[in-house]
Amino acid sequence: MVEDLKRKLFIVPAVLLLLSSAQAGNTDRVLGRNCTDFQTANFLRGSKLKVQFLLFTSSSPSCGELVLADDGIKNSSFNSSLETKIIIHGFRALGTKPSWIEGLVRAILHISHVNVIAVDWVYGSTGAYPSAVENVTQLALSISQFISKLLALGVSGTSIHIIGVSLGAHVGGLVGQFHGGQLGRITGLDPAGPKYTRASPEERLDPGDALFVEAIHTDSDNFGIRIPVGHIDYFVNGGKDQPGCPRFISAGLLEQAGVSVRKLPKEVKVYLMTSPSAPFCVHHSLVEFHLQKKRNIITSIEITLSGNNTKETAKIIIPKHKETGKRLLAHRVPLCQINSVTLKYVPKNQFWRKDESSIVGEFCAASLPLNTNRTMSCLPWNLTLPSNTDISYVLPAACA
Ligand SMILES: *[C@@H]1O[C@H](CO)[C@@H](O)[C@H](O)[C@H]1NC(C)=O
Ligand SMILES: *[C@@H]1O[C@H](CO)[C@@H](O)[C@H](O)[C@H]1NC(C)=O
Ligand SMILES: *[C@@H]1O[C@H](CO)[C@@H](O)[C@H](O)[C@H]1NC(C)=O
Ligand SMILES: *[C@@H]1O[C@H](CO)[C@@H](O)[C@H](O)[C@H]1NC(C)=O
Ligand SMILES: *[C@@H]1O[C@H](CO)[C@@H](O)[C@H](O)[C@H]1NC(C)=O
Ligand SMILES: *[C@@H]1O[C@H](CO)[C@@H](O)[C@H](O)[C@H]1NC(C)=O
Ligand SMILES: *[C@@H]1O[C@H](CO)[C@@H](O)[C@H](O)[C@H]1NC(C)=O
Repeated sequence: MVEDLKRKLFIVPAVLLLLSSAQAGNTDRVLGRNCTDFQTANFLRGSKLKVQFLLFTSSSPSCGELVLADDGIKNSSFNSSLETKIIIHGFRALGTKPSWIEGLVRAILHISHVNVIAVDWVYGSTGAYPSAVENVTQLALSISQFISKLLALGVSGTSIHIIGVSLGAHVGGLVGQFHGGQLGRITGLDPAGPKYTRASPEERLDPGDALFVEAIHTDSDNFGIRIPVGHIDYFVNGGKDQPGCPRFISAGLLEQAGVSVRKLPKEVKVYLMTSPSAPFCVHHSLVEFHLQKKRNIITSIEITLSGNNTKETAKIIIPKHKETGKRLLAHRVPLCQINSVTLKYVPKNQFWRKDESSIVGEFCAASLPLNTNRTMSCLPWNLTLPSNTDISYVLPAACA
């Protein structure tokens, strides 16, 4: 009884403190305007989602600018010629601001000149997990409306990168789906498992939700989802750090948005190993083949990347009536240590029609994440690939 009372006496001032600190906010002296912070939903769940969009820019990385619906975006510091990262948090049992938000926003703005929008939906995310899940569709709709307003300002869909954490990853998936899978990129950080592992791709994050979808799983034995949900899925064992690798993860995370990748043909599951042989990081490359002439049949090219002690083989498929086929590759050494690439055109001979005996085109490769200029190293001539013949080339990718 006495213990109970003590606890109550303790909790009340703590809650008041939280509320007052959230409401007071701070003023940005340089810009002379008030900063807006996340709301605090306390324990009384509201009946409204009360979604807030807080804009952070390089000139004020720690002062959130409340962007109101309607014409609020036009009248804000949002710069439509820059890329935009939208951060969506997940379930917040106590209805409080996620502690990692500020650090993530600052880290992004430290390395890139972009618009960062933090979506505050603490009101809808609080209480019990299933009720937060029930609010997801409505939340995804309001974020989609917000994005539509950005698109109306001339922002390109490919320049939008959604970073969703836990339940927020699936919200990002829904938002992407509402935009026909044409937004640039979605990164799911520990996509939530409960209620989603058996969900259909329409209900959860999946590779169809954006041009490039990646997920980093660090908690798949607990709250995280166990199944792959992106074009690339990184499974980091038990969240243990691994020499050399975490740097890549954050760079994968923080690099420029809007990788101009069109539909990727295959899902890739990547296990980041925490084996005794660390640092065995996996490197990723994007490889492309551009046909000189479109074909009315699918084109299949086997590619092998060879280094001193490594050989990785994969297939690029170019859909019919398309010029370009793209593929993500995982390999153990950086791309710049790959000595040669071997290409083999595998014709699709059908008994009523013989496929062409050779194809002509261009091969390009780039290590991921793409650099700011999105430059790829290409073999510098129109290659002729005779059918079923291995042809090797030196790959012109120098280590920086
Ligand atoms: C900041 O907020 C205070 C208190 O609400 C208000 O009096 C002041 O006018 C605001 N300043 C600006 C620049 O909007
Ligand atoms: C928004 O518009 C009003 C009126 O035109 C202006 O006074 C204000 O400075 C603008 N705010 C921003 C952030 O541009
Ligand atoms: C928007 O960003 C571009 C590219 O960095 C820059 O040239 C331009 O001045 C910015 N516009 C405003 C209004 O800050
Ligand atoms: C969010 O879900 C809870 C639980 O189902 C519900 O009470 C609340 O009305 C929902 N909020 C909105 C805005 O739909
Ligand atoms: C590959 O092996 C050759 C010959 O042993 C060596 O000269 C070269 O430096 C090696 N390259 C890499 C990237 O290790
Ligand atoms: C990007 O392009 C600019 C201008 O062409 C060049 O100066 C810069 O070095 C390039 N950056 C990279 C990472 O390739
Ligand atoms: C490749 O072939 C096309 C079509 O003949 C031509 O337009 C292009 O200039 C060629 N590219 C190179 C690098 O030779």
